[in-house]
Amino acid sequence: MNAAAPARTYPTRIFSGIQPSGGLTLGNYLGALKRFVEKQNEGIESIYCIVDMHAITVWQDPERLRHATRELAAGYLASGIDPERSILFNQSQVSAHAELGWIFNCVARLGWMNRMTQFKDKTAGKNAENSSLGLYAYPALMAADILVYRATHVPVGEDQKQHVELTRDIAAKFNHDFKVDCFPLTIPVIEGAATRVMSLRDGTKKMSKSDPSDASRINMTDDADAIAKKLKRAVTDPEPLPDTPEGLEGRAEARNLVNIYAALAGTTPSQVLADFGGKGFGVFKPALADLAVSVLSPISAEMSRLMQDPAEIDRLLARGAERADAIARPILEEVFDIVGMVRSRRG
Ligand code: TYM
Repeated sequence: MNAAAPARTYPTRIFSGIQPSGGLTLGNYLGALKRFVEKQNEGIESIYCIVDMHAITVWQDPERLRHATRELAAGYLASGIDPERSILFNQSQVSAHAELGWIFNCVARLGWMNRMTQFKDKTAGKNAENSSLGLYAYPALMAADILVYRATHVPVGEDQKQHVELTRDIAAKFNHDFKVDCFPLTIPVIEGAATRVMSLRDGTKKMSKSDPSDASRINMTDDADAIAKKLKRAVTDPEPLPDTPEGLEGRAEARNLVNIYAALAGTTPSQVLADFGGKGFGVFKPALADLAVSVLSPISAEMSRLMQDPAEIDRLLARGAERADAIARPILEEVFDIVGMVRSRRG
């Protein structure tokens, strides 16, 4: 008889990833990178990935993909990820992701995948029949990214919440089907003022690297002049700022800029409004531009410096991949064994 395995305790471990599909935006920085650095600095074991296999679910020019992978590595490092304390690597160098991804393709149900809003958003207005199968199966690979390390916590922006919930569903179904306690029910960590940074041109749309308008976003590689110009031209309303966050109701653009300010300053929207309530955007926007430049310019300068030595970046990624593989491989072997695969070469 297959008795249920005794409950296992999973040590706290963080995993998260970013796609190297084009440049990094302020949304990626505030919603992800800055928070990854905070977690690392709290001393939590952290694994950070450049998910190049996710990126190719839509067409990527090979040379640009290589460049974007190194640039994203530089972005992680320049933001404060320490490749000794954290593990930093690119996904394709640790084949356990793809192997567990396949197993999860066989665990996840079509009905679950059909509910994924990101697939619907990415194919909206396009011929969905012409999307890659990888784009559709993408969330199962994301679940594998997380669970191949038995990660317990995943810091992400709002837009990834549904994918982390699917990860929990996959873990629960695997544990249930095989009557094991093999995977934790991973918790999405979505906290802080900027878990959904919006477009500077339209407060109802997410800031995104794929938006055709460059003025809609701040890129991490923008110079001080471009950052200041984009923020000063950001769409707003004519009213002064309210004294409290409740007063931002129905003012999506104003709320977005207040949230960005709070996240950049490491404070709360209430505090920002305590300082700027009653003031107009003529005062607030230049203050926000100065703050953004002071935070982002050193990061973009450090990214450029690191990009001068791509061989060193490659060396760091290879070293990170070795460390990641050392954690993932034994977990994957346990999974193969649970599923019933004969693994005679490994004894
Ligand atoms: P990606 O590459 O689209 O975004 C990387 C991270 O940045 C966050 N983010 C934002 N946060 C706030 N406001 C925004 N406008 C904004 N835009 C992006 C995202 O929420 C994300 O945290 N599927 C993931 C990559 C991935 C992953 C994983 C993440 C693959 N495997 C495993 C966590 C764990 C994605 O496409 O993120």
